Amino acid sequence: MITPETKEKIMDAVRIEEVVGEFVNLKKRGVNLIGLCPFHNEKTPSFNVNPARGIFKCFGCGKGGDAVSFLMDHEHYTYPEALKYLAGKYGIEIEEEAPSPEQQQAMDEKESLFNLTAFAQKYYEEILHQHEEGKAIGMTYFKERGFTLETIKKFGLGYSLAQWDAFTQHAKKHGYKKEYLLKTSLTKEKDQQMYDSFRGRVIFPIQNLSGRVLGFGARILTSEKNKPKYINTAESDIYHKSKVLYGLYFAKSTISREDNCYLVEGYTDVISMHQAGIENVIASSGTSLTSEQIKLIRRYTSNITLLFDGDPAGIKAAFRGIDMILEEGMNVRLVLFPDGEDPDSYARKYRPVEVKEFVEKNALDFISFKTRLLLGETQNDPIRKAGLIREISQTISLIPEPIARTLYIQQCSELMEIDERLLVAEVNKLRRQKMQRERGHEPPQELPEPRPEAGIQPETQKITNGHQEREVIRMLLQHGEKKIEFKVADEEGRPVDIAIRVADFIVDDFSDDKLGFDNAACQAIFDIYAGHRLKDTTPTEQTFFNHPEPLVRELAVDLLSTPYTLSDNWKNRHRIFVKTEEENLKLSLIEVLYAFKLRRLEKMIEENQEQLKAATEEEEALQLLDNDSKLKAKRSLFAKELSRIITR
Ligand code: UTP
Ligand code: MN
Repeated sequence: MITPETKEKIMDAVRIEEVVGEFVNLKKRGVNLIGLCPFHNEKTPSFNVNPARGIFKCFGCGKGGDAVSFLMDHEHYTYPEALKYLAGKYGIEIEEEAPSPEQQQAMDEKESLFNLTAFAQKYYEEILHQHEEGKAIGMTYFKERGFTLETIKKFGLGYSLAQWDAFTQHAKKHGYKKEYLLKTSLTKEKDQQMYDSFRGRVIFPIQNLSGRVLGFGARILTSEKNKPKYINTAESDIYHKSKVLYGLYFAKSTISREDNCYLVEGYTDVISMHQAGIENVIASSGTSLTSEQIKLIRRYTSNITLLFDGDPAGIKAAFRGIDMILEEGMNVRLVLFPDGEDPDSYARKYRPVEVKEFVEKNALDFISFKTRLLLGETQNDPIRKAGLIREISQTISLIPEPIARTLYIQQCSELMEIDERLLVAEVNKLRRQKMQRERGHEPPQELPEPRPEAGIQPETQKITNGHQEREVIRMLLQHGEKKIEFKVADEEGRPVDIAIRVADFIVDDFSDDKLGFDNAACQAIFDIYAGHRLKDTTPTEQTFFNHPEPLVRELAVDLLSTPYTLSDNWKNRHRIFVKTEEENLKLSLIEVLYAFKLRRLEKMIEENQEQLKAATEEEEALQLLDNDSKLKAKRSLFAKELSRIITR
């Protein structure tokens, strides 16, 4: 465990341009450096490095972060691995906190489980290659499945003898304790008799990300009905099936190179596809897909292609997979295999190039996939079509990113020939319901209705204040620590100058008016500033770059690397010679705050009017009308105030 002091030393020493410079050819452009983005394909550089802030940002693909997150994204390091790399680069000695006796014991125990598992893997592999029974039964089976010797060795496949306790005896002879034999579930115990879990089965070792074996899948070779086809290692301190993906160790570098990951059903599908030359393939073995597994994939790519056979169970699994992947903010495509085929059988029947061509040609986005499956031939049946639209809206509503939702809505609207605004309304309704179910979480980020066509009343437009919210947060992040001066009257009425920190000004202003943010990441950043206000401090940029919530990290990087644009408009609009935002900080700040509040008020007016339309009681309607005129009065006051400030 690296100490906080060491972390600080490392972060102080790090020069982002030197770290990124090892992987990207950077050229100086003003105070920043630019280069070709290593995270997506581009011909003109849009990848920016800001040495002063210690961050990078690609304006092409949106990726951004600090030196540590660059290494985590680019080199797929874990957080401690990235720190160690940087410590090595800058000659900083790493101080690690000595683990407590309990931590030490847990580590020793895990190590013992790993050692025994590695021992078992070697044993089963040796039986497969050397033992008469292994060769006659196990090897014959693998050969019949079309696995080459090279493949069998690469995946470390094995065989377990059809005897009660051959492995258990062997392990005991080598000094492995009963306690660990039971904890790895390699051995079972009944009536004080120890016996092997895997007997007469072929063995598929399951590796972790660094290639160490965590557990096994063991397939039966006979067709006995009352025995399970596969026995998988039980949960243990080293094997958590919901967090493991079979084949990821072999697939990870190809996954990030191809920026896509094929997800199949099981061990044999992974192995056959590999053998056919498609190496970015993994399976969630022994469980249905979990969100932890999806997050694991996200370390390498945000694109997943599901390969399933077209039977009802496969389709059901695919539908579930689509929703889970989209909900994690990733992209999903699907390939359905023809009747009776799965990736494994297809890869055995056809040549590698044909397999590759098949999956590339037949990958569908989820809207086309669902449409094809649910609508099929009956394109014109309105009832089925309505059901399908609801089904697709449901899935779209799970996507966290508003831009992606908008794009899918557009696609769905074109494909299904349905008004985009109807879809937006449906998706927003579903999102509200979802948020209500998960009450206490992120407030809904609704999509604005698409631009009205001519003839549609602007009143029907939903107002969102995403831009204004971001501007307030940008002020906090970029200028929070700077001071602005105000003239106030002292007790005797004499004008005096006081200086106040921008962050304090904003926090106080918002607290006075009890204002909040719709966007959860904006709110989180604001809350951090509010917390510091109480302690009379301001947070550092690192606080946000290392924030546990990815949306907060992204927003902070985004806002801190967005070049300032408002002052240009400002200059043109008001003919004021503004060199930088900083020189007119006070005016900019007030404009941003007023713009935010004005937008808020407009939203309140709109909501009030909607209620008014729906009102049935006269009493209620009068009340709402009264609200309306009060809000509008306040709005014109605000608008006047705003124009006074910016034209002064
Ligand atoms: P399959 O039934 O397709 O396994 O299950 P298979 O070995 O490929 O069999 P055949 O040759 O096509 O008939 C697919 C995956 O589902 C998991 C395994 O990961 C398997 O690879 N599975 C299946 C289990 O975990 N347990 C089971 O009992 C069955
Ligand atoms: Mn199969």
